[in-house]
Amino acid sequence: MILQNKSLLRSKAYINGEWISANNGASYKISNPFNGEIIATLPDLGRDETKMAIEKSDIAQKVWKTKTAGERSNILRKWFDLMMENKEDLGYILTIEQGKPLKEAIGEVVYGASFIEWFAEEAKRTYGDVIPSHAKDIRIVTIKQAIGVVAAITPWNFPNSMITRKAGAALAAGCSIVVKPAKNTPLSALALAVLADEAGIPPGVFNIITSNRSSEIGDELTSNPIIRKLSFTGSTEVGKVLIKKCADTVKKVSMELGGNAPFIVFADADINKAVEGVMISKFRNSGQTCVCSNRIYAHSSIYKEFTEKLSKEVNKLHLGNGLEEGTNIGPMINLKAVNFVTKLVNDAKEKGAKVITGGCCSDIGKTFYKPTVLTDVDTSMDVHKQEIFGPIAPVFKFETESEVVQLANDTEYGLAAYFYGRDYAMIWRVAEALEYGMVGINTGLISTTLAPFGGIKESGFGREGSKYGIDEYLEIKYMCFGDVS
Ligand code: SIN
Repeated sequence: MILQNKSLLRSKAYINGEWISANNGASYKISNPFNGEIIATLPDLGRDETKMAIEKSDIAQKVWKTKTAGERSNILRKWFDLMMENKEDLGYILTIEQGKPLKEAIGEVVYGASFIEWFAEEAKRTYGDVIPSHAKDIRIVTIKQAIGVVAAITPWNFPNSMITRKAGAALAAGCSIVVKPAKNTPLSALALAVLADEAGIPPGVFNIITSNRSSEIGDELTSNPIIRKLSFTGSTEVGKVLIKKCADTVKKVSMELGGNAPFIVFADADINKAVEGVMISKFRNSGQTCVCSNRIYAHSSIYKEFTEKLSKEVNKLHLGNGLEEGTNIGPMINLKAVNFVTKLVNDAKEKGAKVITGGCCSDIGKTFYKPTVLTDVDTSMDVHKQEIFGPIAPVFKFETESEVVQLANDTEYGLAAYFYGRDYAMIWRVAEALEYGMVGINTGLISTTLAPFGGIKESGFGREGSKYGIDEYLEIKYMCFGDVS
C-alpha cells in the first residue's frame, strides 16, 4: 500500500497554523518499530517554541470561545468527515510509526474519529442550570464556560485516538489545545493537524509540538500559567510527577494512567467466550494498552480446559509486519519493551511458572516477543504486581469468589477489570466489589466513545469520552442575581 494523500505525511511541527522547524534547527529521527528503518526526521522543539505555542494558543482561544456552539460543532464535524475520508492513509501512517497491524490501525482511526463526531454533537449540550433560590429577590443561575488553553501529553500506544479523545472534548468546549504527542509517534498527530487545518480549525486552536525532549516540554506545559488544564495519558510514574508540577499554578488535571487489569473466569463461565475475551483484551496492540488484561484468574475446576483452549488460540496468532495482510500481532514499540517482558517471563519461570506457549523472542525481528501463556503462576511473581504491557498472559488458579475479588483488588491500580460468569447475583456482587473505574462483564472489549473511560486509585482520575468527557474542559460559573423584585 502507498499513501494516497501524501500531504498527510509531515516533517515539521504545527504551531499557530504554521509548519515550523526548531529555532536552533535541531531535529531527531523516528523509526519504524518493525524493522528500525528511519521514516521521518522531525523538529526537536524546546521550551521557547513551546512557550510561543502556548501564547499563540491563548490568543486563538479568546476568539474560538466566542464562536457559537453550532459553529464549533460544524467545524469539528468537518474534521471528523476528513478523518473518515482519509482513514486508510491515517492507518498506514499509524502502522509505520507504531507497528500495530493495519486493520487495527484503521480501527483506531475510526475510534479516534468517533470522538470528534461525538464531541461535535456534545458542543451543543453544555447546559447550565437555574437553581431554586434561597431568597425572594435572588435568582441563581449557572453557566458552563471553557476553561482556557489546555495542554495534552499523549502516549505512543494510541497515537491517533488518545489525541482526538482529548482535543475533541477541549475544542467542543471552546478551549484551544497544545498537544505533545509521544516522541516516537508524532506522525499521526501531524496528519491530524493537516486535516484540522483543512476542516477550518483556526490557527492556534490545535497545535502539535514535536520533540525528543519530553521532560523539557513537560516542564513548560506544567509551569506556564496560561495553561489552565493538563490532560495526560501515560504511566503512573510520569503522571505523579506531572500532578506535582501542575500544583504550583493550580491547574485542573486529568490523568489516565497505568493499569493491572484482572480477568476472572468463574466456574460457570462460557469458556469459549472467555477465551475470546482474553484474546481481545490481552493481545490487542500486542498487549500494549492500559486496559489489557494483566492477571488472568481461572477457577480451579475449569483451569485446565481454559488454559488449553487459550493456548490453542494464542498459537494461531500471526506475527509480522503490520502492513502485511494476515498479521495480527505487530512488533513491540522498542527493544526496551521486549527486554522488560523478557525479564518478567524469566522471573516467573525462575519462581516455578510453566510456559505453555511462547516464552521467548521471535526470529521475525528484535522487537518481537512471542505471545505467551504462563501457567502455575503465583502472587510472588512480578507478572502479578507489574503492568506487563506486552503479549504475556499469566493464568492464576483460584477457589472462591471472595478470594479472587480480594486478589483482583490487591493492587495500587484501578483502571479496568473483566470477568466471565453466568450467575446473576454473583455478577452484581463482583461488579460492585471490584475497585476499578471500568468493569467488563462477559466481554473483553470495553472501549467506546459513548462510555466514560477512566480509572480510580493510582490509575488516575477524570473521565474521557461519553457525556462526562466535556466537563473536564469546562468551569461552572454561578451567577447570583440580586434585587429581583
Ligand atoms: C489506552 O490504552 O490508554 C487506551 C485504550 C483504549 O482506549 O481502549
